[in-house]
Amino acid sequence: MIYMGLQSLLQILPFVLLSLSAGCSYGRSLEDRFSGVGSSADELQERDVLWSSREVVNVRDFGAKGDGSSDDTQAFISAWKAACSSSPAVTLLVPNNKVYLLKPVTLSGPCKSHIIVKIKGTIIASPKLEDWDGTNRRQWVMFSGIKNLRVDGGGTFNGSGQRWWKNSCKVDKSLPCRVAPTALTFYSCTSLEVHNLKFRDSQQIHVSFEGCTNVKVSNLGITAPESSPNTDGIHITGTTDIRIKHCVISTGDDCISIVGGSRLVTATSIVCGPGHGISIGSLGADGSEEHVSDVLVDTAELGGTSNGVRIKTWQGGRGYARNITFKNIVMNKVENPIIIDQNYCDSSQSCSEMKSAVAVSGVTYKNITGTSATEVAVDFDCSKSFPCKGIVLQDIKLALAGGGPSKSTCENTDLSKSGTVVPLPCTS
Ligand SMILES: *[C@@H]1O[C@H](CO)[C@@H](O)[C@H](O)[C@H]1NC(C)=O
Ligand SMILES: *[C@@H]1O[C@H](CO)[C@@H](O)[C@H](O)[C@H]1NC(C)=O
Ligand SMILES: *[C@@H]1O[C@H](CO)[C@@H](O)[C@H](O)[C@H]1NC(C)=O
Repeated sequence: MIYMGLQSLLQILPFVLLSLSAGCSYGRSLEDRFSGVGSSADELQERDVLWSSREVVNVRDFGAKGDGSSDDTQAFISAWKAACSSSPAVTLLVPNNKVYLLKPVTLSGPCKSHIIVKIKGTIIASPKLEDWDGTNRRQWVMFSGIKNLRVDGGGTFNGSGQRWWKNSCKVDKSLPCRVAPTALTFYSCTSLEVHNLKFRDSQQIHVSFEGCTNVKVSNLGITAPESSPNTDGIHITGTTDIRIKHCVISTGDDCISIVGGSRLVTATSIVCGPGHGISIGSLGADGSEEHVSDVLVDTAELGGTSNGVRIKTWQGGRGYARNITFKNIVMNKVENPIIIDQNYCDSSQSCSEMKSAVAVSGVTYKNITGTSATEVAVDFDCSKSFPCKGIVLQDIKLALAGGGPSKSTCENTDLSKSGTVVPLPCTS
């Protein structure tokens, strides 16, 4: 397959966004088009029945103005309370062609019935940083403790991140490092679906799944400038059984980051770049014990990213990252296309060598092709006390962008290969 370069990426972006905004009614045809991981027809039919013919609770009827400057937070809270306590089940509607300004807000369950939140318009973050005083600075909009929730509608979350980025210690080294909000957080949700949404310029992470179970995500379009600090696209933590498909992400940090306590994570049909690539970790910061397992990344295009598929762990951590497969991936001018970094260090001080480490095992790389922007295309930097085990390279072809041979490096890695592997695997 021919790599979809940045230019063609820009060409398909409007198409993807168009499909996103066209997907206001429940997008079965979209799901079908991007099938592969999809639900069976029976399942879909069942869900359609479940979700159809409902009353609509409109935020407008609770006083939301949608003029882009009035504070609509209280109206959203009141509308949510009405929707969440209603039986029969209702749809909570955020209408089209309006811009709703929200301060930090948490919409909590449990709710009486299955809820659909249909976001057609734009939700924009309050530009005043003071609005976060005395609240959790990690959150802007949060859904918490809800079972059977679906959020979709083709609308946009705009985090108005510029002011937060300026105040980041990564941008202004004289400032202390402080957290900034995640645009949309799902906390402790079960049987959750998130489809057809756009995210722009988040303060930090764009969308985060924390402590959720049984999650389906599709057709998200996420963009923030390459220079924006810590603006991960999709972040997954403590979450089990999450399937992500057909997302287009260009941002300043990881397109997808999968961290501790996450299991059974599948990401298919992902377009990423610019950004820092698709990452597992970082794991084991400050000596913590973390576990990530059963991850599959299948079918992705990465362009111009600072890493491709990466596993990153800090020295001194404990736990494991295991049973991880990266396959059918095309890289275009990616720095570090394949990398395991067990000496990850993202602090201003250098990190000293330590005895313990998060153990990395059972990692398969299969059918990964394209170009590397760095001479070292395959880099396994594993720990002396916990060498990487069961690393498999199969059908890999990574050329150096601009010509010349690419290279592999490895430390403390138990490696096997099958098929053609370029660059040739190293021995350690
Ligand atoms: C997000 O909202 C800001 C206003 O706070 C606006 O200037 C900016 O253009 C919007 N971003 C996008 C990508 O629409
Ligand atoms: C490995 O992970 C995949 C998901 O990617 C899962 O289907 C499979 O059962 C796991 N294998 C083992 C041995 O747990
Ligand atoms: C290898 O991956 C590419 C990109 O996803 C895909 O188009 C191609 O069909 C895959 N090849 C095989 C043999 O699976």
